[in-house]
Amino acid sequence: MYKKVRSMEIFLDTAEIESIEKYSYFIDGVTTNPSLMALNKEKEPYKVIRRICEIVQGPVSAEVLSDQHDEMLNEGLALSKIGSNVCVKLPCTLDGLKVCKELSNQGIATNVTLCFSAAQALMAAQCGATYVSPFIGRLEDIGQDGIVLIEEIADIFAMQKIETKILAASIRNINHFTQALQVGADAVTLPTKVLEQCFVHPLTTSGLIKFKEDWRNRAKN
Ligand code: G3P
Repeated sequence: MYKKVRSMEIFLDTAEIESIEKYSYFIDGVTTNPSLMALNKEKEPYKVIRRICEIVQGPVSAEVLSDQHDEMLNEGLALSKIGSNVCVKLPCTLDGLKVCKELSNQGIATNVTLCFSAAQALMAAQCGATYVSPFIGRLEDIGQDGIVLIEEIADIFAMQKIETKILAASIRNINHFTQALQVGADAVTLPTKVLEQCFVHPLTTSGLIKFKEDWRNRAKN
């Protein structure tokens, strides 16, 4: 049983089993998408999702491949059967939101992805989404401020007492990570390279070297 011990959630944004195993201590769950799944050499995507669900106890976002209502609904139902911690990822489109409502009404966890506006996030909440994923990096790629969007959504969700959780995605650096949580994101999904940046700082490295050196030279003092 997945038990949250604190409010925020940190997910790893990858389909690479080795990375998930290596960093399982630090993450609450995993998010995948078709581009990340395409990088995994395993030809059977459901096998990958099943393995991920075994490694982490928390939510595992698995995205549908279709963008048509009926196919998305069937895919979402099939994905939800892979593991009790599967969270079905759906695009923030008319059909994707309809499927979100239908799956949410059945108690299936959902993550509405490719969100780029507060209006889209509100529609995801209207459809009972468990998570909505605003993409910070891709907004910045077109010269817009992704953190401002997270803050805007967080303000509206707090004002309207909306329970859908804001899952900040498309994280390009540790500033996106910390600033998203600072302005009200409930969760963040980190690519492996950004998570790895959280474990190193030059002053930590040099400080550790100095400690060891001073201890080694203690007899000389
Ligand atoms: O997985 C969803 C999101 O995190 C993808 O990010 O880097 O492809 O914009 P990115």
